Amino acid sequence: MTIGNQCCVFFSIFLCISVCLGEDYDLDDRTGLGRSFDGIGGLSGGGATSRLLVNYAEPYRSQILDYLFKPKFGASLQILKVEIGGDAQTTDGTEPSHMHYEDDENYFRGYEWWLMREAKKRNPNITLIGLPWAFPGWVGNGENWPYSFPDITVSYVVSWIVGAKKYHNLDIDYVGIWNERKFNSKYIKLLRYTLDKSGLERVKIIASDNLWEPITSDLIGDQELQDAVEIIGVHYPGTNTVPSALKTGKKLWSSEDYSTFNDNVGGGCWARILNQNYVNGQMTATISWNLVASYYGNLPFGRDGLMTAKEPWSGNYVVESPIWITAHTTQFTEPGWTYLQTVGHFTHGGSYVALTDGKGSLTIITETMTHDHSVCIRPPLPHYNVTAQNVTFHLKGSFASISELQVWHSKFDFKTNKTVLFQNLKPIKVVEGSFSIELDVDEVYTFTTVTNSQRGSYPDPPPSAPFPKSYKDDFDVSGTPSFSEAPNFADQTGVFEYFTNLTDPGPHVSTLRQVVTQRPVTWVADADQTISVIGDYKWHDLMVSCDVFMEAEHTGGVFIAVRVNKGGGVVRSTRGIFFWVYADGTYKITNDLSGMTILAEGLSGTRARVWYTLTLTVKGNYASADLNGYALWKNAVLWEPRNGWAAIGTSSFELAQFDNFAIEALA
Ligand SMILES: *[C@@H]1O[C@H](CO)[C@@H](O)[C@H](O)[C@H]1NC(C)=O
Ligand SMILES: *[C@@H]1O[C@H](CO)[C@@H](O)[C@H](O)[C@H]1NC(C)=O
Ligand SMILES: *[C@@H]1O[C@H](CO)[C@@H](O)[C@H](O)[C@H]1NC(C)=O
Ligand SMILES: *[C@@H]1O[C@H](CO)[C@@H](O)[C@H](O)[C@H]1NC(C)=O
Ligand SMILES: *[C@@H]1O[C@H](CO)[C@@H](O)[C@H](O)[C@H]1NC(C)=O
Repeated sequence: MTIGNQCCVFFSIFLCISVCLGEDYDLDDRTGLGRSFDGIGGLSGGGATSRLLVNYAEPYRSQILDYLFKPKFGASLQILKVEIGGDAQTTDGTEPSHMHYEDDENYFRGYEWWLMREAKKRNPNITLIGLPWAFPGWVGNGENWPYSFPDITVSYVVSWIVGAKKYHNLDIDYVGIWNERKFNSKYIKLLRYTLDKSGLERVKIIASDNLWEPITSDLIGDQELQDAVEIIGVHYPGTNTVPSALKTGKKLWSSEDYSTFNDNVGGGCWARILNQNYVNGQMTATISWNLVASYYGNLPFGRDGLMTAKEPWSGNYVVESPIWITAHTTQFTEPGWTYLQTVGHFTHGGSYVALTDGKGSLTIITETMTHDHSVCIRPPLPHYNVTAQNVTFHLKGSFASISELQVWHSKFDFKTNKTVLFQNLKPIKVVEGSFSIELDVDEVYTFTTVTNSQRGSYPDPPPSAPFPKSYKDDFDVSGTPSFSEAPNFADQTGVFEYFTNLTDPGPHVSTLRQVVTQRPVTWVADADQTISVIGDYKWHDLMVSCDVFMEAEHTGGVFIAVRVNKGGGVVRSTRGIFFWVYADGTYKITNDLSGMTILAEGLSGTRARVWYTLTLTVKGNYASADLNGYALWKNAVLWEPRNGWAAIGTSSFELAQFDNFAIEALA
């Protein structure tokens, strides 16, 4: 006979009771335990995904950080992974390197240091990971490849780890190789050797932040490599592992996963993979790309974070469902707890895991996500069925005497939209080691002996609002700025930093300066020009003005632009209306960043090391460009693009400065 949903139809009342109890699942530690749990984390960077977060006013910025990191409050993340900035485009922007040039060292650029400190402040136990996506050009010595001189790359990466400790008292726990790119065994061994020699034995290596192969096969054949690598980190494994990975005996992590729009389907994806990465793939850590969607929504992979915070100008942020899905595991476990061997799939779909601290504590997490409500961005998800079901857990071994479990519940109801997230229900009685529960579809439950958790909350943040129509920045900051970049500018190629010219007696002492002077070892196809975007992607009619200063004699060139329609990995094909002046005394108006489509060109008399004011006005199909208030070009008829961000930038990897930036949206 089949038992299941149709219980009580064909049977007598007595049979019915046992049938309706549904299936039985034992949770037992008597035959030993499973793998050690290493945590759930978020990834800031790869790239520039936390860019706008830093510009939130208090108390909102701290509230967002609390939802992410504060133990027993929100996501209560156990791992923070950050990009080791490499001055190059790494998905949603560039992140600055601590060594733009070979003779340069600065451990206060960007926001990852700050983010790691804020995370540690909230959770001193949080695990920290650093991983490079790209490298400054000098590291590759002119080649777009970081392994030609492995000793240079190793010392560059180790200096980042040493700097973290020296300047921020941050102990980095793990370091990776080169995100989603080729690894090199010689490089990995040299990295291990150099870490050990530098007193950094505690810093372990993750490899290779890509696919299972070839790293797992290479490990099996190479004892020294095996000794060097602590963790096999794989990306988007679709919850599955491969036999060769299991054969290495290494810890397996999904060191980048999720990357899914953070609506309720995104929450369903996250719930399913958090359980099934262990159940199917024996992976003991899962890290979300990304931590928080704090980048302009029209950049690639908009809102693929655990929560959304992309409006520093309004203070609005959204605690999305993945935050509470994370809490179902993180608020009731700690890294170092152990999975039970008795984990698995439910008969009618869904999965369960159970973890213990080895001292009698028990946390069980169930998920019954349906296929269509838990699809992740990648890889493709084969079809499967989930139906409502009754399950009975039997607690055995160390857990046999548990008499009550706390219950936390989430349910995505796609029919009514009455989603509940991380609700604390009445404790459930465990009678003679057993308890039963009816599981509906698209639910997550935590049953746990851990008692002191909470669904943290703050008053609603301010309502969402568009980027201000009128916006100015003179880049004058009193004292040392908290961050190296000016608010709301999102660098897409090159790096734009605050700069102070102490010898300048004039009005341009504090400026914004593009500082990357050599094409980096790139991760995607950075443009040949540098560009930083700002504002509202919907803008069409706009006036932008900015003072500009070319530093490169003869070869220099700078621009301001409107209706800039692309960023991220496709930055090379960015279109818009670009107004350029050059140090050779000419100007151009182009319809794209690469300068292929020239709308106008002529003489401007501009040269290096002189400040000029550029103004670009676009209204409907008409545009004009002014140099120091004098019209160089006007009333041209424009068609595409119709809207986009404002931007500034340079015509090559060269030093240039910007001051008194102003935007006036005209419609
Ligand atoms: C940090 O870890 C220790 C040891 O596991 C634990 O006792 C302590 O509660 C943890 N602190 C936080 C804030 O989680
Ligand atoms: C899911 O259920 C449908 C309808 O009962 C059935 O046709 C299909 O084969 C099932 N799919 C799988 C993967 O079990
Ligand atoms: C679960 O069991 C209850 C009675 O114990 C029954 O009413 C219900 O229909 C069962 N649910 C499913 C999905 O089988
Ligand atoms: C549920 O919410 C989604 C997204 O907000 C919306 O598209 C859909 O129409 C809503 N469905 C119902 C039944 O309200
Ligand atoms: C700094 O200011 C001085 C004086 O105005 C000027 O000559 C020099 O070019 C400036 N240097 C930079 C790097 O801007």
